[in-house]
Amino acid sequence: MRLNAVEARRWLPVAAAALVLVSCGSNLQVTATQLPAAQYTVDGKLLAPIDYRDWVFLTSGVNMNYSDQPMNMGHEMVDNVFVDPASWHKFKASGRWPDGTVIVKEGRVGSSKGSINKSGIFQTEQRFDLEVHVRDSKRFKGGWGFFVNTGDKPARPLPATASCYACHLAHGAVDTTFVQFYPTAKPIAVKAGVFDAGK
Ligand code: HEC
Repeated sequence: MRLNAVEARRWLPVAAAALVLVSCGSNLQVTATQLPAAQYTVDGKLLAPIDYRDWVFLTSGVNMNYSDQPMNMGHEMVDNVFVDPASWHKFKASGRWPDGTVIVKEGRVGSSKGSINKSGIFQTEQRFDLEVHVRDSKRFKGGWGFFVNTGDKPARPLPATASCYACHLAHGAVDTTFVQFYPTAKPIAVKAGVFDAGK
């Protein structure tokens, strides 16, 4: 039986629960949380991560712009970055992202008008596409794959020619990730000697 993405998403927790039940019988310590954070359809599309808001928070940025030109977006833009907890646990011990790492960047429309707010920017419910960076040296040439999930739709890996790869490779301070902007991750990478301060 082949499951499409939505069906697979529906059955995963059931399969995981079955795993836990089976393992209880044989005293194995297997839990649902050990499912890899990245889940794919049979044709290699990444399922949109659903519970990333329960993951480990790395940073927020407001109106970040990587070019000399003004963005003229017509709205404020806030981004939030999260990493799956199991990979964060390993990163804390080594300063390196293990295979299986999934880092999600969600963009949100920021607003300054609302409730009692007089100045400054807060985040709204209005979310943009999810940008996802996945480390898997078996699956991706170069070790990492980029995805953009629209809504809850599965996403194809972006081709190596996509601008994401070049910018992250040239400027990401740790293994193509922007740890220079993640205040709790940066000191760990610096201490481990894997932080490229020139980026
Ligand atoms: C010109 C440079 C540039 C390009 C092009 C770019 N990014 Fe990034 N990306 C950044 C920066 C800077 C950050 C750090 C954001 C922050 O601090 O909030 C980042 C962070 C991320 C993160 C968080 C994980 C990490 O690797 O640090 C993801 C996921 C991500 N980008 C996805 C993408 C995708 C998908 C594309 C292509 C569609 C892309 N990026 C293109 C500069 C870039």
